[in-house]
Amino acid sequence: MIIAIDGPAASGKGTLARRLADHFKLRHLDTGLTYRAVAAALLAKGLPLGDESVAIEIAQHLDLAQMDKSVLSAHEIGEAASRIAVLGGLREELVNLQRKFAETPPGAVMDGRDIGTVVCPHATVKLFVTASPEARARRRTDEMISKGNDASYASVLEDLKRRDERDSQRTVAPLKQADDAVLLDTTEMDIEAAFEAAVDIVSKAA
Ligand code: CDP
Repeated sequence: MIIAIDGPAASGKGTLARRLADHFKLRHLDTGLTYRAVAAALLAKGLPLGDESVAIEIAQHLDLAQMDKSVLSAHEIGEAASRIAVLGGLREELVNLQRKFAETPPGAVMDGRDIGTVVCPHATVKLFVTASPEARARRRTDEMISKGNDASYASVLEDLKRRDERDSQRTVAPLKQADDAVLLDTTEMDIEAAFEAAVDIVSKAA
């Protein structure tokens, strides 16, 4: 069983994916972390984000079990991740890794931007999770403040819109709802309501 979850930044897909994995006893991969891990390694080496051959080499040695979400969730790493995510050869490398993870029994919940369209086009069920930019910016700001970071709603909203634009407009694997994905708009839902709606969608499809 493969559950594919795609959607824009701060739509709540990560939390949903984790809870669905728990509920259905599946493994979980946040594919955004793979882009973040490569971006973080480039930043740490002081290399340009456009250096695709080094990015590919880093991806070839990436250990999914060693990715540390608390380190990789830094704001500047997210921004750098969306910049390297336009590199086609790098994406191919990461998509291969992600597919292997998804296809290992008993299956997985995969969250990202291109799971339903590229990584797992034959997933058992596909969800496209979204919310208004304002709701997403509010959630991301609250999350940053609760972690003790400085955050202003206005600049978070601006960043989100810029990243949405970059992710949706790129030519390789842009963020887009798969034809057979079910849309889940969480603008007016808290996490509990969104989780119940998602379980309902998955149960009907599986
Ligand atoms: O958590 P948040 O939505 O802020 O970001 P993320 O899911 O960690 O993804 C960071 C960046 O990686 C995104 O802005 C995308 O550009 C890229 N990404 C991608 O291109 N394809 C994926 N399957 C996952 C992430």
